[in-house]
Amino acid sequence: MVKAVTKAVLPVAGLGTRFLPATKVLPKEMLPVVDKPLIQYAVEEALEAGVEDIIMVTAPGKGALEDHFGRAVELESFLEARGKTEALASIRDNFPKPAHISFTRQDDPQGLGHAVWCARKLVGDEPFAVLLPDDLMQATPGCLTQMVAAYEKTGGHIVAAEEVPEAHTSRYGILDVAEDDGSLVRARGLVEKPAPKDAPSRLAIIGRYILQPSVFEHLDKKMTGAGGEIQLTDAIAATLDDVPFHGLRINGRRFDCGTKLGFVEANVAFAAARDDLGGDIHEILAAY
Ligand code: G1P
Repeated sequence: MVKAVTKAVLPVAGLGTRFLPATKVLPKEMLPVVDKPLIQYAVEEALEAGVEDIIMVTAPGKGALEDHFGRAVELESFLEARGKTEALASIRDNFPKPAHISFTRQDDPQGLGHAVWCARKLVGDEPFAVLLPDDLMQATPGCLTQMVAAYEKTGGHIVAAEEVPEAHTSRYGILDVAEDDGSLVRARGLVEKPAPKDAPSRLAIIGRYILQPSVFEHLDKKMTGAGGEIQLTDAIAATLDDVPFHGLRINGRRFDCGTKLGFVEANVAFAAARDDLGGDIHEILAAY
């Protein structure tokens, strides 16, 4: 039996320069898709999958993330006094409540691998999930829940994966596929952001991982890779003699909310899926 995944690391130290001026004072993870910030989708997805401890790796200027997951007692009393039960529920009864939520800092932006390394003391010697909130998943059950179900059979490291156009391989970590049953892939390796001609496949890692703690041994060495950054992909690759490695195609859709187009599309898709907005959204879109 594999050890359960009860901890999740959410790297949220990025500057969000693609969304300036919106992100001048607002952390990009606080940008809302319909009426919920990106970070809350990621936390809810982790909790649904059985995660108890959320570890956010933040940076200066990201205080709103911490405030968002604290209680807003005055606001609650205000809503309660006015009988605004739905609004109240959205910040209290229906609001995610991790058993623990911790914040640690990445003081120097040295890449995703470095951000995850910053959480090493809080993770300790156990398997853990990594969720990149920019990658928003629309999936039932949730993306990480699907991955945990697969992980219970495979153990080792497992990442969410999706086919991308050949021209886009240089934007992602790409799997070197050994076996593929159409859903689950056993991979013999992975490469960070290869040019299309060097890419071992078109199967890209999207922002969800279940990892064994042995990745920290490599991250400790602070070796830089693609783009001069400390890459999580390289740390995973360094452990593959000892750790099985799989990619899972997710049943659902992924939106790259790190880009404007992906973010706008996510808003449309999440609104269209809602009972209270779906009909109107289709009507509005028809006008364009
Ligand atoms: C990161 C990872 C990459 C992965 C991607 C998924 O890249 O380094 O392997 O495919 O997230 O979104 P970034 O988007 O931070 O450049």
